[in-house]
Parts: sequence; C-alpha cells; structure tokens
Amino acid sequence: MRRFLWDSISIQMLLVFLVVFLLVAHYMKHRKPKNFPPSPFAFPFVGHIHLMNFSNPYILVEKLIQKYGEVFSVQMGGTWFVFVNGLRMVKEVLVNQGENFLDRPDIPINSEVFSSIGLVSSNGHLWKQQRRFTLSTLRNFGLGKRGLEERIQEECQCLVDVLEDEQGNPFNPQLKISNAVSNIICSVIFGNRFDYHDKDFQKMLQLLNETVGLHGTIMAQLYNSFPSIMKFLPGSHQTIFKNWKLLKSFVREKIEKHKEDWKPTESRDFIDSYLQEIAKDNGGGSFQEENLVVCVLELLFAGTETSSTTIRWGLLYMAIYPEIQARVQAEIDAVIGQARQPALEDRNNMPYTNAVIHEVQRKGNIIPFNVPRQTVKDTVLDGFHIPKGTVMFTNLTSVMFDKNEWETPDAFNPEHFLKDGQFRKRESFMPFSVGKRACLGEALARSELFLFFTALLQKFTFQAPPDTTLSLQFKLGMTMAPQPYKICAVRR
Ligand code: HEM
Ligand SMILES: *[C@@H]1O[C@H](CO)[C@@H](O)[C@H](O)[C@H]1NC(C)=O
Ligand SMILES: *[C@@H]1O[C@H](CO)[C@@H](O)[C@H](O)[C@H]1NC(C)=O
Repeated sequence: MRRFLWDSISIQMLLVFLVVFLLVAHYMKHRKPKNFPPSPFAFPFVGHIHLMNFSNPYILVEKLIQKYGEVFSVQMGGTWFVFVNGLRMVKEVLVNQGENFLDRPDIPINSEVFSSIGLVSSNGHLWKQQRRFTLSTLRNFGLGKRGLEERIQEECQCLVDVLEDEQGNPFNPQLKISNAVSNIICSVIFGNRFDYHDKDFQKMLQLLNETVGLHGTIMAQLYNSFPSIMKFLPGSHQTIFKNWKLLKSFVREKIEKHKEDWKPTESRDFIDSYLQEIAKDNGGGSFQEENLVVCVLELLFAGTETSSTTIRWGLLYMAIYPEIQARVQAEIDAVIGQARQPALEDRNNMPYTNAVIHEVQRKGNIIPFNVPRQTVKDTVLDGFHIPKGTVMFTNLTSVMFDKNEWETPDAFNPEHFLKDGQFRKRESFMPFSVGKRACLGEALARSELFLFFTALLQKFTFQAPPDTTLSLQFKLGMTMAPQPYKICAVRR
C-alpha cells in the first residue's frame, strides 16, 4: 500500500516535472527575439490564438495597429510573424530592403502541396532560375507581343457568345469567366484552350475553386499552426491535399502527352520549352520534371484564380453602380464603337475605363496581406531586429485603403485614378505587390483585365436580377472573392 502510494506520487511528480520542463523548453525555443517588434501577451504553445478571429482576420489586427503601430508581431503555433503596415514600411520591406525579404516561408500547407519547389514557394538559386526562365518564356509566347493579345481577343469573343446564350436571365458567371481566363494561361503552358463544355476541364476548374475556398477554413489554418498534430486528424485540410493531388495528376497527364510528341527542335508552349531545358540540364540542375509539374500547377492556379476573381468583382461593381457602368460604356462607344473588338492600344485613349479597372482592383483587394515573405538574413527594420527566417506579412490593405493616401478610401470611386480627365498613376496602388518578387504575371493580368472587361461592357449591361440586391460581402479563401452571385447580362 505504502509502496503503491509512493509510486503514484512519483508518477505525479514526474508528470509535473515533465510539464515544467516542456514549458521551459518551449519558452526557450520560441521566446521572442531581442528587440523584436512589439506584441500583446502570448500564451505558451498556442501563442496569440485567443486573438484570432478565423472568420475575419481583420478584427484581430485593427486593435493591434492602434496599440503597437506600423510594425508588430504575433505568435501562432510557436512561430513569430511580423505584420507590416502603411506605404512607408511596406515599401521599405518590398523595395528599399527588398533583397533581405526575398524568401518565402515554409507555410506547412504550401510545403505539403508544392514541396518548396517551383515558382511561388521556392527560394534562392532554384527560385531565381525558375523565375527568370518563366518570365522569358512568357515573353516568347507573346506577352507584350501581338500573338497573345489576339489569343485574348478570340477568347473574349467566345465569352461574349456564351454569356449571350443566357439571354439576359440571372446566372452565376463564375465558371464561364474562370474558363475564359484560364484558357489564356492554358494556351501558354499547354498550347491549347478548353471548350466551355469540356467536362474534364470544368471538373478541374471546380476542383480548383473548391480547393481555393478550403484554404480559408479554420482546419487549414490550424494545420498551418500545428501540422504535426493536425496531420493525423480528419478535416478540410485532408481534402485540400487530396484535391491538389488530383490537380497535379491533371498537369502530369498533360506533361506526359507533351513528352510523347515532343520534338527537341520545336517549342510549342511552356512545357515544350521546359522539357528542352531539362534536356540541356542533363537532370543535374534545378530544371527537373518535378519542378516542371509544380511550376505548371502554380501558373495554372495563379493565372486563373486571381484574374477571374477580379473580373467577378468588376461585374458586381458595375451592376451596383450603374452610373459608372454607363460612363464606361459611353467611353467604349466613343473610342472603339460596336464594329470592332477592343485592343490594348485603346487603353491609352480610355482613361475612365482604365481608372475603373484600377479601382476594382483596389477595392477588390483580393490578396489583402500579400503572399508572405521571409527574411533572407538578420535585418533591421524601423529600428527593430528581425532575425533571419522571420515570416513577414506586408499588409497591402493598409496601403490601398490608407486614409492619408486616398481621398475616399472606403468608397468605390474611379476619380482616385483620374486627374483633369487623364489617367493618374498612384504609388499606393499595389495589388500585384512591388519589388523584385512582385507578381510575375502582372503584364499578362493587366492585358486580360482590360480586354475582357471592355469586351463584356461593349456588348452587355450587367444588372442585379429582378427583386434582388447584390452584396459586396467577400468570402475568404486563398483570395478574397465575392460571395457567389447571380447576375443578368443584358445585350446592349
Ligand atoms: C489580378 C490578377 C493578379 C493579382 C492581383 C496577382 C497578385 C500577386 C501577388 C500579390 C503576388 C505576390 C508577390 C509578392 O510576394 O510580392 C503574386 C505572385 C505571383 N503571381 Fe500573381 N497576380 C495576378 C495574376 C497573375 C497571373 C495571371 C499569373 C500567371 C502568369 C500570376 C503568377 C504569379 C506568380 C508565378 C507569382 C509568384 C512570384 C514569385 O514568387 O516569384 N499572377 N501575384
Ligand atoms: C466554388 O466553391 C464554393 C465553395 O467554396 C461554392 O459555394 C461555389 O458555388 C463554387 N462555385 C462554382 C462555380 O462551382
Ligand atoms: C491591415 O490594414 C487594414 C487597413 O489599415 C487594417 O484594418 C488591418 O487591421 C490590417 N491588418 C493587419 C494584419 O495588419
């Protein structure tokens, strides 16, 4: 009996000792670095989880900015994140000290899906090579040349045709817009477009849409904070992994097909060019097939989701602000007319339309905290010490809605981009981010947005369905997208 008691005490003691030891070890391992940006009180193990509002990440932070200023830190699952706010500091990180903040962090969910290779989540030499190759290949296949512009114009016509089929009745335009936009990047990477009735491609787009949405779920965010535990639990993060595997196999199939009829001397598209690079590389460098799979998947995803989400915001704003829509249409009628298709050349003569597209991007704000970065080496930012490997969020929202920069930051107001009737560039407009690692597809995206937007408004007026009020509520996923909506495209 006594012996039993002693045993149980010692086990309790052992447990207490263990817990204390773990707490101390945890504290030592995850303690805040010296002279680090300020942060509120953090619990051991879970950090600032009590401050998180998973359905609206803005709320956590509103209070923090007021209290701690432009640069502050938050701890989640043992990792310290630094948030950077305001034009001055965001530019400091992305441009002035850009070289120091060039890396991407190891976000568990991304590492699991993209394996830290490819374009978006890779670092160092590998990233540099992939980025340089992709930029020059995009250029070869027509970015900034006549070829791709014509491709987009053809696709505009196809999109106008399928919207016309709806005969002005309420419909959800999402899949058709995604298909049209996706066809542009598909032409570049696969060398072909996909018909709007192609069942396999529609399935792929739906899978992409579902997966992007799931990235905004609580389970996905918990996985990022506690991957080693969440790995074993069921939930939407498991669906995310399953879906990306399916998307990868879609890409792999295309690559296999290219390998079958590949001619070393002839390059039809991005995949062909990459296969040439692999052949030159003899498999020794960073041009390897696994990298090709991830690059293609990332281009497909980045080239589809972002531009089509922006166009969906655009149509929604036009239906909600009919007087602005009418002014865009008047400009289209004056500069282009109804007889021919819009061309990129027209952009210079259409300051109002250009301003409206910029305002859609500003207010749409589809990547509110930018894609996260990580310090390449120990760095000093605004007097704070940021050790190598710190995860940085540059808050693009704080720049694009800055009260000191914009006359009416919360209103949808194209005048933000106009001066004396001319288009006016604004430094605080940065939906594509800025600096050496800014969006690689900016030129392509800007061409797509202008051509699709003007082609649609040339032929249709967008209206809320009868007895319906359209909402500007957003839905957070990998991007900030409008809630699914139905709209009427009334032939002009
Ligand atoms: C409206 C459309 C788009 C928006 C708002 C957008 C925005 C962004 C942003 C904010 C980043 C992060 C940049 C940074 O870390 O500083 C990014 C990266 C990237 N974007 Fe876009 N993007 C758009 C369209 C596209 C398109 C059409 C493509 C396809 C060619 C594309 C490909 C990429 C790639 C590959 C990266 C990663 C670049 C790197 O890490 O080096 N984007 N984009
Ligand atoms: C996209 O996914 C969301 C769920 O995340 C769903 O509500 C929406 O209807 C989907 N859109 C299409 C066109 O499938
Ligand atoms: C980002 O900026 C917006 C606008 O200034 C602010 O409301 C929000 O709290 C900021 N979020 C973070 C994470 O810094």
